Amino acid sequence: KQDTRIQRIASSIRVVPDFPKKGIMFQDITTLLLEPKAFKDTVDLFVEQYTGRGISVVAGVEARGFIFGPPIALAIGAKFVPLRKPRKLPGEVISENYILEYGSDCLEMHVGAVQPGERALVVDDLIATGGTLCAAISLLERAGAEVLECACVIELPELKGRGRLNGKPLYVLVESH
Ligand code: PRP
Repeated sequence: KQDTRIQRIASSIRVVPDFPKKGIMFQDITTLLLEPKAFKDTVDLFVEQYTGRGISVVAGVEARGFIFGPPIALAIGAKFVPLRKPRKLPGEVISENYILEYGSDCLEMHVGAVQPGERALVVDDLIATGGTLCAAISLLERAGAEVLECACVIELPELKGRGRLNGKPLYVLVESH
């Protein structure tokens, strides 16, 4: 049953106060990964949500989108495209700068990883202000892809990141208040 799975996922996430800075309640998904049932439930719920929707690209955001994105991509028969922090990708890239909860950053994607008209899903562990997902959406759209939806394990709804996604639907498993 869906609720049992969601509860198992929610209770497997460790909240660490004042990390990496004072005032931040860090949502630590490494404890979820230590529980094979919770990890499998997480992937299964996303796979159920995205099977049969013509998605050919799963784009994962560094670093924790690299944990959840690939098993989803394999299960739905899509390619996996890593969206990386600056100067990590060796090929020609396009870049998007963005502001985040603590600091500013940039995401890059390889030119040619995505073809115009492809249907894409963006995956990350968490949405806070939404700046990261907004940059990810921009990269995919600049490459001509259609972003169907964004998927995260955790949402911090108080930060209203959902409203920054250019109207793209956001699917989350757990809300943290
Ligand atoms: C965290 C998280 C998301 C992003 C969400 O990553 O994994 O990618 O912040 O924040 P936002 O919605 O306010 O943009 P972080 O910046 O800690 O980078 P890391 O995964 O490389 O540690």
